[in-house]
Amino acid sequence: FCSEMPQNEPILGYMKNSKEREQLEAAIKHLRSCTDEIPVVIGDNEYRTGDYFYQVMPHDHHHKLAKVYKATPDLINLAIKVATETQRCWEFVPLNQRAAIWNRAADLMAFDYRQILNAATMLGQSKTVIQAEIDSAAELIDFFRFNVYYLSQATLNKPLSPQPAQWRNFMRFRGIDGFMAAITPFNFTAIGGNLAYTPALVGNAVLWKPSGTAVLSNWHVFKICREAGVPAGVVNFIPSEPVDFGRAITTSPYLAGINFTGSPKTFNWLWVEVGKNIESYINYPKMIGECGGKNFHFVHPSETDIESVVNFTIRSAFEYSGQKCSACSRMYVPHSLWPKIECGLKEKVTSLIVDDPTKYDTFTGAVIDNLSFKKIKDYIMYAKNNSGLQVIAGGKCDDSIGYFIEPTIILTRNPHDKLMKEEIFGPVLTVFVYLDRDIQKTMELVGCSTNFALTGAVFAKDEKFLKCALEMFKMAAGNFYINDKSTGSVVGQQPFGGARLSGTNDKPGGPYYPIRLSNPQVIKETYI
Ligand code: SER
Repeated sequence: FCSEMPQNEPILGYMKNSKEREQLEAAIKHLRSCTDEIPVVIGDNEYRTGDYFYQVMPHDHHHKLAKVYKATPDLINLAIKVATETQRCWEFVPLNQRAAIWNRAADLMAFDYRQILNAATMLGQSKTVIQAEIDSAAELIDFFRFNVYYLSQATLNKPLSPQPAQWRNFMRFRGIDGFMAAITPFNFTAIGGNLAYTPALVGNAVLWKPSGTAVLSNWHVFKICREAGVPAGVVNFIPSEPVDFGRAITTSPYLAGINFTGSPKTFNWLWVEVGKNIESYINYPKMIGECGGKNFHFVHPSETDIESVVNFTIRSAFEYSGQKCSACSRMYVPHSLWPKIECGLKEKVTSLIVDDPTKYDTFTGAVIDNLSFKKIKDYIMYAKNNSGLQVIAGGKCDDSIGYFIEPTIILTRNPHDKLMKEEIFGPVLTVFVYLDRDIQKTMELVGCSTNFALTGAVFAKDEKFLKCALEMFKMAAGNFYINDKSTGSVVGQQPFGGARLSGTNDKPGGPYYPIRLSNPQVIKETYI
């Protein structure tokens, strides 16, 4: 049990000659020197099927990091059977025992395996050391510790209302009969761990399908959790073809829910498949999804701290090559401030080093894979070939060694252009310069020019405007920042998620998230 709110895990500095840097380098060397074999794991058994693929390094795509075996449809069905059976016992393990395992896992991640997790995230997902440290170390550890705390708080035997002497009402949070499916993305190792292990903490059994481009780091998370004491069968590790996995889970009557982060297209498909099978389930499956964004930075004419606007925008748009769900990809700047902001953005963006992320002066590595590279390049080509758009910085793409794309800034005259609407998920920032007198009209545009509503930020000194922005942007972002960048939410401080096309807004990293994954039971005890 955990009665005190945990502290956020501190971010390490990786200074020259520091212990963490030495350990990280050893871990990188180790992972570079071998091709790990990653099996499917169901219950206590590992399966190496005839069907496999290689996870490569995005910044050096000839380098095979891991050979990953894929689960066949039969194996996925076996995993469903094993998980469903395991769930029946698992939910009766007292919460304090489950909590102890999760806290042990967090400690193993913090003290014993931090650098192997970071190295796997850096090599496999092309993150720089700082981006790995805030993800596969700090955020992952925080998710484990805070979820234990939140669930413990919710489960305390607090009376639900003033109690008369003759009876007592209370609520407990059990797992859901059947199995949960966790379908997790490449961009945060922490999200993989959170989506698979929070339902398990609550008393569910899970089938975890990691992203094919993040299997190595996710595999280490899985192994650490087994070592911490998560019993066999509670979380089953199922790398597989997305369609095979989606079909198998949605046609099983025991599907308790889907905990998903990825594209709206995939989430919609899953929802449709669930709809087709709706008569067959023993429970209504819980659909929990985070589906990305088209996040904005809005600058007000009263802003005087241009340097901060520039720095925050560069960081939000281009750290991890714009592949955070929260990355800023559209910016609104008043005409009066544009000359200074343009100058600052151009100067800063040209100084960014795009290279192997294990080098310490690299700002960002490669984008995740060939598919992403092509998609982002197509958007840049579209901008180059369109007279209403102007590429003012970057724009080069080179996939000869790794999937490298220069941080790119595009100016648009049309605030409704597709570059202001569609999620690109790459290092591309589109700027619309508005006339200062059109401020009201432009604010209205921010909310309606896209269907996403994940994150957004405003920069201003005018307090009256800020008050008005809080009202106007209510629907435009699930996480809204004032005078700060749109990325970098911290577990326990800014629970994360958005509505509309961005997802079901269940706010992982906050107190209600574990509850949403549970099957609450209310009990009235009467004393005679
Ligand atoms: N925590 C991340 C951010 O805010 C998103 O998962 O950037």
